[in-house]
Amino acid sequence: MTGETIARCTESAAATEALAAALGATADGGELVVLTGELGAGKTCFVRGFVRGAGGVAGEVRSPSFTLLHTYGGTRTVHHFDVYFTPNFEDLRRADLLPVLAAGDVALLEWGERFAPQLPADRLTVTLEHVAPEVRRVSLLAGGPRTAAWLERALKAHDRPGRESA
Ligand SMILES: Nc1ncnc2c1ncn2[C@@H]1O[C@H](COP(=O)(O)OP(=O)(O)OP(=O)(O)O)[C@@H](O)[C@H]1O
Ligand SMILES: [Mg+2]
Repeated sequence: MTGETIARCTESAAATEALAAALGATADGGELVVLTGELGAGKTCFVRGFVRGAGGVAGEVRSPSFTLLHTYGGTRTVHHFDVYFTPNFEDLRRADLLPVLAAGDVALLEWGERFAPQLPADRLTVTLEHVAPEVRRVSLLAGGPRTAAWLERALKAHDRPGRESA
């Protein structure tokens, strides 16, 4: 699945959360997710579902625009960065992005594509696009083999009949 974009349409915020939750639930640790999409596309909504899937308390999730980073505990520790106001990669380095990944945590970056050249290639890029007020196209692109295997696991869990309805 490396290099191939997989697209799904979600017809509610809950459906976007459910897709993200499948990814959160199947992460092994060390994964990096870059979230792309215009204002209100659903990036924070995706993080909320992801945190829930990773066993954290998703009710708390809100955009960390002015604080750079929020961290959520769970089966996996999830770091939620919003780099919209982050001028350069040095700030992310200071926030220990790469060491937390090496330690087995998971990181999600809203607006992270800006730092693509400095980020590990084997990452998941999630692009959210408005289709209709309640509908989003969610495109998932694995940048390497490890992410591709994770994505395959997550989609299997998500598509399995009888999965959690959200
Ligand atoms: N299918 C859908 N998927 C995700 N969000 C949806 C969907 N349909 C409606 N919404 C609504 O769109 C909004 C998405 O807001 P959210 O804060 O997640 O966007 P964002 O991309 O993080 O924006 P920002 O760039 O301002 O941080 C929420 O109010 C959510 O309820
Ligand atoms: Mg946001």
